[in-house]
Amino acid sequence: MEKQIINGLKILQMKIKYNKFIFLVILTFLTPGAVFSSQPIAYLNTSGYEPAQQETAQGKNGMITTQHFLATAVGEKILNQGGNAYDASIAIAFTLAVVLPRAGNIGGGGFMVMYDKDTDNAYSIDYREKAPALAYKDMYLNDDGTFNDKKLSTFGYLSSGVPGTVAGMWEVHKKFGSLPWSELLKDAIYYAENGFNITPYMEDVLKNYNQKLSYYPETKSIFQKDFPNFTNKKLFQKDLANTLKRISSEGKKGFYEGYVAESIENDMKKNGGLITKADLKNYNPVWRLPLISNYRGNKVITMGPPSSGGVHIIQMLNVLENYQLNSYVHNSPEYINILGEVMKHAYSDRSKYLGDPDFFDVPIKKITSETYAEEIYTSIEVGISTPSEDIHPGMFLQQESHETTHFSVADRFGNIVSSTYTLNSTFGSGVVIEGTGILMNNEMDDFSSAPGIPNQFGLLGSEANEIAPYKRPLSSMTPTIVMKDNELFFTTGSPGGARIISAVLQSILNIIDFEMSLEEATKARRIHHQWQPDVLEIEYYIDDKASKELIDMGYSVKIRRPLTCIQTIMYKDGKYYGYGDFRRPDAYASGNIND
Ligand code: GLY
Repeated sequence: MEKQIINGLKILQMKIKYNKFIFLVILTFLTPGAVFSSQPIAYLNTSGYEPAQQETAQGKNGMITTQHFLATAVGEKILNQGGNAYDASIAIAFTLAVVLPRAGNIGGGGFMVMYDKDTDNAYSIDYREKAPALAYKDMYLNDDGTFNDKKLSTFGYLSSGVPGTVAGMWEVHKKFGSLPWSELLKDAIYYAENGFNITPYMEDVLKNYNQKLSYYPETKSIFQKDFPNFTNKKLFQKDLANTLKRISSEGKKGFYEGYVAESIENDMKKNGGLITKADLKNYNPVWRLPLISNYRGNKVITMGPPSSGGVHIIQMLNVLENYQLNSYVHNSPEYINILGEVMKHAYSDRSKYLGDPDFFDVPIKKITSETYAEEIYTSIEVGISTPSEDIHPGMFLQQESHETTHFSVADRFGNIVSSTYTLNSTFGSGVVIEGTGILMNNEMDDFSSAPGIPNQFGLLGSEANEIAPYKRPLSSMTPTIVMKDNELFFTTGSPGGARIISAVLQSILNIIDFEMSLEEATKARRIHHQWQPDVLEIEYYIDDKASKELIDMGYSVKIRRPLTCIQTIMYKDGKYYGYGDFRRPDAYASGNIND
């Protein structure tokens, strides 16, 4: 069965790209008002590729959704071997590190939110990267205190935090795993060693990142070997296969000690990076209490700090519960206005109050309180855009990348896993550690590099998220599970930097308030406002009348290409449903799990 799926998908992926010109013509002739129809938009694929997901996947014994169909197939295989959702998630994380190198990783970090059926409890693990011991507050500033514009926090060795993915997966395995660890790495090793077909979408990504992936010879030799002729080629990652073999046989130590740790330290030393063997050996993932809240009778389980996502999802839902949202036309100017205003408040608070809870006392209770929600609700004047500068003084948000990836798994036992992990930017720091195949993150850029001091873009950050040794940078990743009557309702998450939070919010609203099907909820256009810059982002297209209405309210409107990539699993009447977002065409959900 798995072979059939993979073969089918291979054929699908080999189909010639849609003609982008045809798409643009269709877009031009979209009828005005289409954006604001009471129905979600009809199928609208702007990526120019045939998406792997053609229809909603169904399954009664489980469901997987990931951003690459091969990782989904690996997850299915593990569930079919009798593994649980935790086993499948670990196997998926390692497989994505091979087949989705732009974001899947062992050189990065992330978060996982879980509902465990046996204990009837929710858990979350923080396997976010940590700043190396040698990191310091002003490390990206010039002597005169101005922001260093040489991209040191985004590119190259100095931009990497100490990776957490392998330690995170190891912890989850120890606590909840049921299959042997080595079983979970087999497929990732296979694809790294024997290669896998580069899809047309991946080919374009590799081409578009040619400059970034060509700077360091080690990186170039893996990811740009065939540039510009990737068609019908496979991507081989032999060094990565050997690293995965070490992890397979030695567990976490295969990464954080021995050859790999030595190699990371040596390469860092040679190239001005900070990570040492001691940093690696001391890295610790943390089990943290997930944030739990209630929205219109549904239980929302989400990630707490150092992710800002969960705090602000709960904050925004608390405010939005005051509105009868389904009395508005979905994505009408009035509805967008309400979302935009609520988002501004949340992102404004994010800039000031959110950081690593081990270093900064994050006022979670205050931000997620009903009283504060009421305050925000009463301050919002529907029909106008309050200028961002009037919402909170001063602290501006950092620019964030649009990358990262999310996967979700549900198993026959009733366990649910929702995980988002990242290298930060697409292909992270651009550094592959010599002889290991490990692509390193550039997560240090998620810190406020220059608290209180404007960087080259005039952006400021806050003390809560300033750099300190061993500290975790603030994140937007928001893996979330929503339960109804103690059963899964849906689980969701997304890549997209700051846009993750607004995407997860809209995923929740689409399903709960607008009762959309999974496919509709995924395809519906999304909007984003992050307070600073004071810009309302809207996906794809907006007709002149609606645009004028929003501009008249005071918004600066920006039409954008696809925002984020929601991966959602729903459960209804004894069946799981999955849908891979077409915005990343290799995304795929499947639930062919045997009885
Ligand atoms: N690096 C993106 C995030 O953590 O939100």
